[in-house]
Amino acid sequence: MRKTAITLIPLALASLALANTYEIEEIPLPKEMSPELSGVAFTPSGKLVVVNRHGEVWITADAKSGPWRRFAFGLHEPLGVLALSEEEILVTQRPELTRLRDTNGDGRADHYETVNDDWCVTDNWHEFTFGLRLDRDGEFILSTGLPDVAGEINTRFPRVPLHMEKVHQEAKPSPGRYEGWVMKVSRDGRMTPLASGFRAAAGVGVSPDGDIFVTDQQGDYIATSTLVHVRPGRFYGHAASLKWRDDYRGPVDLEMLTQLRTPEAVALPHGTMGGSPGEPVWDTTGGKFGPFAGQVFIGDFTKLISRVFLEKVAGEYQGACFPFIRDAVGLAAIQANSGADNLTIPAGKDGLKYFRDVPPRTGTPLRPGNMRMAFAPDGSLYVAQTTRGWGQGDGLQRIVWTKKTPVEIAKMEVTRDGFRLTFTTAMEAAQLRDAKTYRLGRFRFLYLPKGSPRVDETLAEITGIRVAADHRSVELAVRDLQPGHIYELELEHLRSVGGGLVENPQAFYTLTRLLDGRTFTGPMSEPRIIAEQKANGVPDPEAGRRIYGTFCVICHQPDGKGGALPGTADTPATLVAANFTLRDAGSPLSKPDIELLKIITDGAPGKPMPPFGSVLKPDEIRDVLAYLRAAFGETNHSSSIQR
Ligand code: HEC
Repeated sequence: MRKTAITLIPLALASLALANTYEIEEIPLPKEMSPELSGVAFTPSGKLVVVNRHGEVWITADAKSGPWRRFAFGLHEPLGVLALSEEEILVTQRPELTRLRDTNGDGRADHYETVNDDWCVTDNWHEFTFGLRLDRDGEFILSTGLPDVAGEINTRFPRVPLHMEKVHQEAKPSPGRYEGWVMKVSRDGRMTPLASGFRAAAGVGVSPDGDIFVTDQQGDYIATSTLVHVRPGRFYGHAASLKWRDDYRGPVDLEMLTQLRTPEAVALPHGTMGGSPGEPVWDTTGGKFGPFAGQVFIGDFTKLISRVFLEKVAGEYQGACFPFIRDAVGLAAIQANSGADNLTIPAGKDGLKYFRDVPPRTGTPLRPGNMRMAFAPDGSLYVAQTTRGWGQGDGLQRIVWTKKTPVEIAKMEVTRDGFRLTFTTAMEAAQLRDAKTYRLGRFRFLYLPKGSPRVDETLAEITGIRVAADHRSVELAVRDLQPGHIYELELEHLRSVGGGLVENPQAFYTLTRLLDGRTFTGPMSEPRIIAEQKANGVPDPEAGRRIYGTFCVICHQPDGKGGALPGTADTPATLVAANFTLRDAGSPLSKPDIELLKIITDGAPGKPMPPFGSVLKPDEIRDVLAYLRAAFGETNHSSSIQR
């Protein structure tokens, strides 16, 4: 079905024939340079600097015709670059922040200096170090990624020292220090850990006001990719990094994590708004890049660059994201992939409905791998691309505004009772007034160790439309505006006065707070949802009680306190491990449902707990677990299965 939809798109778009408002240009790279670019920056004098994953730094005064000069080499997968001058360039290598200096003026770095390496990476492939930006005090901001087994690590391995036996097997947890953190390093090399809870904060940005932001990547604990405003001391969701907080005192559960967690500023809904966001860059071009001055552009690993409008509501950032330039093929890959691996998020109820808005761009298409971007002094946007073996398409492209005003939603702001849309130009008044122009829905994500699908997805009713006199903005009153939800807007065939269709008629507003400061108070984490993902139907503790009485009571006892098979001796181990009434960390019911479902299905190898996978059906196993939670679990414990 999906395949059919994809092939229909070009036909639907052919009739639109929009002129390009942004051109994409190819920047030729010298043959000796690996094109897997992992960083791009400009020196204060306007020279272009790139780094690549193979550890080189290159500079040119003229991006179009060169020549390029190799400034440094031999670095370990640098993923960020900052050029303080042509003679002093900083890079984040995986294991350290390095200052490269050309001290004799020959245009090549002759002095490589470790500024700081107070975190720790191992050979786990996913332990990246990202950056690099200066904050308002002129200090370096960088971030670290978790190893790919981080979801398993959780908090069970607190602060263990580096242990090479563990390190050299990827399936083992990594003991790396300050993984999943955002950190700052002073000019003289002192590191301060700033905030935790990140999975792979691949993009670091600092706003013109000096606020630190990162993008984080969808996966365990991070239900969708995000743009996060980083505040010192806060925790942003992924449990594995928590153990490096000073106040860490031992294992934590989802309930505590939920209370600790600060939500993102803007969600970038997985699938429709990309798969893996890169560096956020602020349009500080003062209009040279079009009508979005002050807004944020975020490249993505897919063929997408998105745009974010931020506003402060009740003292915290939130706002809307919009596609800026995107390509249907990249999006199709993400959506086709969903569910196949950790991309668990369905692409929305109607699957490919969003493809119709891909603008019919002529000329060079956008490549994938858009992880690093920088605005050039002339106001064009340089996009450094690497796909790191996950796809094809490395290199350097440049996006230039053609000076034609794009017809776009410039801003989406929350109002007392809904949203205000402001367009880049005056729109057709009759269409603005027509409720049929707007399709508004809302949904939310849960906060769960294994990620979350969209839940509570419903249409939102527009109860009033107020069009501004200049026809450039409209206020939509919305029934039952709900904080804690993402509002998804689609515009149906809305045209400007000049006749141009909105190029990207889609927006997602992350409504964490209402104007009066109200936030969401309902449940954020429902293991029920996990169980539902596994099979249809809600677990039934009453059915579970009967199963317990038939199969389990003989060992676990009516009071759930456990013991071994009648006639055999209790050992201290079976008494503890089979006791459902214990409350401490490591006790049976402190474990997540997924783990318990597996133990009941497969048994505990080498222990007297038998496997029931061939005796009970999967939904019966869920029923009996629901009974264990209901009968022996803590009431209102966050991980009790609710009906
Ligand atoms: C033959 C005795 C026996 C029977 C029958 C039995 N269990 Fe167990 N169960 C045990 C023992 C012993 C342990 C502790 C295993 C260990 O040492 O890790 C255990 C552990 C468990 C645990 C906790 C695992 C953990 O991670 O701590 C769960 C949950 C559990 N059983 C559920 C059930 C359910 C549900 C049934 C019935 C469908 C059942 N058991 C039937 C003996 C039994």
